[in-house]
Amino acid sequence: EEQLHEFQLAASCLKGYLQPHTELQKPKVLIICGSGLGGLSSLLKEDETYHRVSIKYKDIPGFKEPKVPGHNGELVFGHLGGNATPVMCMVGRFHYYEGHSFYSNTFPIRVAKLLGVEYLVVTNAAGGVNETYKTGDIMVINDHINFPGLAGQHPLRGLNLDYFGPRFLPLSDAYDFHLRYALFEASQKLELKRSIHEGTYFYASGPTFESRAECRMLRFLGADAVGMSTVPEVIVARHCGMKVIGLSLITNSVLGDKPASAKETCLRGDTYTAVDQTKGMASHAEVLESANSAAEDVKSLVEYFVGTL
Ligand code: 6GU
Repeated sequence: EEQLHEFQLAASCLKGYLQPHTELQKPKVLIICGSGLGGLSSLLKEDETYHRVSIKYKDIPGFKEPKVPGHNGELVFGHLGGNATPVMCMVGRFHYYEGHSFYSNTFPIRVAKLLGVEYLVVTNAAGGVNETYKTGDIMVINDHINFPGLAGQHPLRGLNLDYFGPRFLPLSDAYDFHLRYALFEASQKLELKRSIHEGTYFYASGPTFESRAECRMLRFLGADAVGMSTVPEVIVARHCGMKVIGLSLITNSVLGDKPASAKETCLRGDTYTAVDQTKGMASHAEVLESANSAAEDVKSLVEYFVGTL
C-alpha cells in the first residue's frame, strides 16, 4: 500500500515536472545508455528544428543519483536518426548493488511509460561467457536468466501495480523478434566490422565480478554474457507493455579455467610467479576502456536503428 501510494505521488509529481520540458518532444523510445555508452546522447539532433533538453537526475523528484564512475546521471530528451524519432535517454542508471531498491532502480521506466514511451532500447557492458565471444563484440539479447529473481530478489515483488500490467507476467517473448530482426538489418546496412551475436544475458546482482567456479556455472546454465544490470529494467518495461531490445557490448571474457593448484605447485617446487592468478582478471578500468573503443559502432547502430522506428 505504502509503495503504491508513494509511487502514485512521485509519478504524478514527476509527470508534472518533466512534461513542461518535454511537450515538444513526446518521447517514443527510452534509451538506457550503459557503461561507456553515455556518448549516445550527443548524437541527438541539435539544429533549427530539433533541440536537446537535458535534466540532471538530482533535479528530478524521485530520481536517485548513480555513483559509479563512468555513469553520469541525467535524462536527455531529443530526436535521433533518419526519422528524427523522439527519444528520452537515460545517461547513467541505478544499480541494485549501489544499495538502491529495485523500486528506484526501475522508477524511470514507469515514468517513461507515463510520458508515452513505447519502446525500450537498453545497452550494457557485459562479460563474455560464450567462448566464441571476443572483447569488442556485440550481443543482441534474445533471452535472459534472472538469477536473483528466481530466488526472490525480483523487481515485481510486492503489491502488483495493476495500472501498469498483470500480476503474473509471461517473459517468453521479452526481447521482441521484429526489433531484433530490424537491428540485424541495420548492422548489415552499416557494414559493421564488429561481430554481432545473439544470445542469453545472465543477470548477477554484483558488485563483484564472478569467481572462476561461478563462470563455469554460468556457462553450464546457458549464459552467453553476464552483467549487473538490464534485466530489472526489461522486466518492468515488459510489465507496462513496452517493446524491448537489448544490446550487450562484450568488454572482457570471463575466466572459467580452474585456479592453479597450490598442492600441485608445491609438490613440483614451482614459484608463485609461475601460477599468477591475476592474469586476465576482470577490472572496471578494462570494462570502460573496451566500452569506449567499441562505443562508436554501438552508437551508430543505435542511431540508425532508432531512426527507423
Ligand atoms: Cl565479467 N561480470 C559481470 N557480472 N558484469 C560485467 C562483467 C563481468 N564485465 C562487464 N560487466
